[in-house]
Amino acid sequence: MPQSVPLWEQPVLRAAAGDTLRPGGFRLTDRAAVRIGLRPGHRVLDVGCGLGATVSRLRSRYGARAYGVEPSPGQLTRAAPGAQIVQADAQRLPFGDATFDAVFCECALSLLPAPERGLEEAHRVLLPHGFLVLSDLHANDDARPEAGSCAQRAIPLAATRVMVQACGFDVVLLEDHSLLLRELAARLILADDGGPRDCGCRERRQLGYYLMIAQKKAQAC
Ligand SMILES: C[S@@+](CC[C@H](N)C(=O)[O-])C[C@H]1O[C@@H](n2cnc3c(N)ncnc32)[C@H](O)[C@@H]1O
Repeated sequence: MPQSVPLWEQPVLRAAAGDTLRPGGFRLTDRAAVRIGLRPGHRVLDVGCGLGATVSRLRSRYGARAYGVEPSPGQLTRAAPGAQIVQADAQRLPFGDATFDAVFCECALSLLPAPERGLEEAHRVLLPHGFLVLSDLHANDDARPEAGSCAQRAIPLAATRVMVQACGFDVVLLEDHSLLLRELAARLILADDGGPRDCGCRERRQLGYYLMIAQKKAQAC
């Protein structure tokens, strides 16, 4: 597997994490879905949905009308047939204003070239008082390369919180789930096939993992 293939497109991550390409599998997805009161018929968008595991989960378990956006042709090819996924960039969502009750973004915000643009788009497509559910790695410094792994691109949590608030959201929940990141790192090491990769496991940055739920304020971003 060439080094340039990102970790989330490598078989070793699926071996370690399954189709949920992030720490914790559905644990934080379900926690957030319950916390925001997700109900049958609610419209949900999963941004950077990867293989569409969360889209399927929100449909089958909560009866939500869930859709995903994902730019990578490789991920779209590997996604389950019939998954409700549109090929698009989180920074230019192909949906109208005030379309969704909730937007999920799991382990994808820090990968965006302009995360604040992704937040603005999430804000735009959400209904007033709609929920933004973010889970991602965070770092203790903002020394981020322009491209790289989730570990290299991780944003300091305080900076993410400021960005989210500046985009017109109230943060209603913020939890540390760094243990889930450590568990996945351990599974990745055990699943290691010896191939070259940039999983971030050997990153010198101090990393953690969080769940944030934010609610769109009524007024415009
Ligand atoms: C670590 S994976 C997580 C996938 C999925 N959310 C999950 O948890 O299983 C990150 C995903 O973000 C996607 N991504 C990267 N850049 C993106 C962008 N500009 N817009 C939307 N998604 C993007 C990647 O293609 C990848 O599928």
